Amino acid sequence: MKVCYKKLHKININYAFLFTLTKFEFFFNKSADEVHYLLSYTYKKLNIRIFKDWNNCILGKVGCHMSEIQVAKTQVSEIQGLVDWLASFGMAKEGGVTRLLYSEEWVQAQAALKQKMEDAGFSTYFDQVGNLFGRIEGTSEKKQVILTGSHVDTVVHGGKYDGAYGILASFLAVKRLIELYGKPKKTIEVVSLCEEEGSRFPLTYWGSKNVMGDYSQMSVKDMKDKTGIPFSEAMTEAGFPFNEYKTRKREDIHHFVEIHIEQGSILEKGQSDIGLVTHIVGQKRFTITVNGESNHAGTTPMMERKDALVCAANVISELTAIAKTNYPQLRITTGQILVKPNVPNVIAGNVSFTLDIRHHESDILEAFCHQAIQLLHQIADRSAVSIDIHKWTDIRPVSLDTKLHDEMKNNLTKKGFKYTTIVSGAGHDAQVFGQYIPTTMLFVPSKDGISHSPLEYTDSAKLEIGVSVLMDYLYKLAY
Ligand code: GLV
Ligand code: MN
Ligand code: MN
Repeated sequence: MKVCYKKLHKININYAFLFTLTKFEFFFNKSADEVHYLLSYTYKKLNIRIFKDWNNCILGKVGCHMSEIQVAKTQVSEIQGLVDWLASFGMAKEGGVTRLLYSEEWVQAQAALKQKMEDAGFSTYFDQVGNLFGRIEGTSEKKQVILTGSHVDTVVHGGKYDGAYGILASFLAVKRLIELYGKPKKTIEVVSLCEEEGSRFPLTYWGSKNVMGDYSQMSVKDMKDKTGIPFSEAMTEAGFPFNEYKTRKREDIHHFVEIHIEQGSILEKGQSDIGLVTHIVGQKRFTITVNGESNHAGTTPMMERKDALVCAANVISELTAIAKTNYPQLRITTGQILVKPNVPNVIAGNVSFTLDIRHHESDILEAFCHQAIQLLHQIADRSAVSIDIHKWTDIRPVSLDTKLHDEMKNNLTKKGFKYTTIVSGAGHDAQVFGQYIPTTMLFVPSKDGISHSPLEYTDSAKLEIGVSVLMDYLYKLAY
């Protein structure tokens, strides 16, 4: 009886199952260790060696082949346990994780990750801005670092997996590789990047861009969060003195690998286990400030108003209509709007709102943004208000390194994993690294494509497949 690996993953993972081509055995409520022990004993007589792989799957090796006994998961997924653990830093009672850059939850999460890495034998350190690294020194090519990880910050009320899964999967993959094969030839570092989302301060990729020397004190000097806390103060309070911060580019990183949840539904719809990312969309973010005039809602005639909110509303709806009609692949979002004085019977005198604009082709992204800025000025003129346009994110679309994917495809098929090549509509740290060094990105499916929401979910079996694939990639790169 032949049962494929994928189907087995769907079976309750607390039970152990074993199938062979000729023989069928069934284990009920046994742990991987117990099944391992029982089978080793039974199969010894048949000269079949039984062992556990890094996924806690039971394999049987017959002579020099490893094909006859098919495999099953037998324990509660280790990666799921880790994801739940990290989510406890910043988890709200009603669900949803909020872990903003340099907040208390962020500080605690980074400290806990540091401890976890040290317990597993990694040597750890923070850089000047709070990126956490767990290092395993290579045996022969120490100076060539293979970096793997993702970001620890979340959006406000986000999910458990975005960013966090990438850090934990990297940690687990490296830990399991060492258990199986010992130390790598090249140095591997697992990174928990301090910031990617742009959820607290108007900046993005603070973590990865600092590793690549792309930010400076100047870029954040005057920045404040929504509550008025200066960036410099938040950073210093979190344990990373702003005054000592200097731009520094790391030259020793040879390859970056990031695994992440898809945050869309392509993999799920295609029933794929793993996404091999080829490109990441370019992204621009603006804050538009509209200055009109606050006045009485009852006495100011419609023709005499300088209504900042009406101007903003027109901009948003006209740009959305243009995008829908002329740019089917483009994405435009206003996710934040602040109105002053925000009182029902007063005309809004001042509004600031964000525009997040994305496309995977530079030319189209540039053309649309150019058109958007012209339209902003036209609408402002016709609304008798003035505007200020501040661009705070501008990241080009990036082509990732697909050579490694091509080399790994056979291996994926052999293991019974279904893969899909995919373009990422979400921004990722891989996009920053990908501009400087060979960078590889993998996705695991997201249930119903939901992300940046407490409903974000990926089942444990898929999370484990991701770890296992990541191990193969890292093995190829560092061993
Ligand atoms: C990051 O998660 C983004 O794409 O907004
Ligand atoms: Mn995100
Ligand atoms: Mn992310």
